[in-house]
Amino acid sequence: MNERTFYWALLAAFALSALVVFPILFFVSAPYGRYEGKRVGPKVSSRVGWILMEAPAALAMPLLFAISDRTSSVTAIVFLALWELHYLNRAFVYPLRTHGRPMPLVVAAGGALFNVVNGYLNGRWVFTFSEPYELGWLADPRFVLGVVVFFAGFFINQQSDAILRRLRGPGETGYKIPYGGLYRWVSSPNYLGEILEWIGWALATWSPAGAVFALWSFANLGPRAWAHHQWYRRTFPDYPRERRALVPFVF
Ligand SMILES: NC(=O)c1ccc[n+]([C@@H]2O[C@H](COP(=O)([O-])OP(=O)(O)OC[C@H]3O[C@@H](n4cnc5c(N)ncnc54)[C@H](OP(=O)(O)O)[C@@H]3O)[C@@H](O)[C@H]2O)c1
Repeated sequence: MNERTFYWALLAAFALSALVVFPILFFVSAPYGRYEGKRVGPKVSSRVGWILMEAPAALAMPLLFAISDRTSSVTAIVFLALWELHYLNRAFVYPLRTHGRPMPLVVAAGGALFNVVNGYLNGRWVFTFSEPYELGWLADPRFVLGVVVFFAGFFINQQSDAILRRLRGPGETGYKIPYGGLYRWVSSPNYLGEILEWIGWALATWSPAGAVFALWSFANLGPRAWAHHQWYRRTFPDYPRERRALVPFVF
């Protein structure tokens, strides 16, 4: 099997797995944070867990860029910059600031595997298997709209994660009702922002790999946002009634 055949088979399996996992995650939440179970095996600190989980995505992209023949393409450099804006933060800045609970090693390992596959699929596409993106692509409406959506999502995600972070002092592990920003409208605006980022990436790269990543983000974070929302409503009798789970006024 040549690499292109392998690539398409992997992408198809990855898309299929998102469709399979989506309904399951409405019944079983990934066992970290407020859903950590007792039988989850060894744990690592939240900081170590996030680095282990996200570093592969931050490293895969520059590696695939470096071994490609597009290292002098401005468009390729812009794609690399967008990806790294998100993943350098998620892998190396977010973990240093989090006050999260220890994370099961199995969750960190599963996340790392996801990021290896997803990093490969996206990096290999934009730097090697796609038709070369010419300089004019940067003025294409799909790219421009995608970048706007990506940055809107990035801002919402950062703002929302910062609001959560401020709810805990050093050493605290309890939960409070978050207020401010898009928490006015939904229980998990950080997830909404994350999903928007990858929809923006899919538009800006106009790629099958980007589309599957956006699908995966929704399949993973949509059910988790729903679970968070139910948990908040069960836990806090005074939880704001008008809040939805993920999409303002809708869901
Ligand atoms: N692309 C993807 O598929 C993907 C997958 C997973 C996560 N992410 C991103 O990674 C980031 C973190 O994800 P997450 O699942 O850990 O998000 P989360 O459940 O919203 O928690 C984020 C952080 O805030 C804390 N926290 C949450 N609710 C709180 C509350 N009511 N009071 C006090 N502290 C609270 C959590 O602590 P505990 O850990 O102790 O609960 C955790 O440290 C998000 O930006 C998310 O979008 C992306």
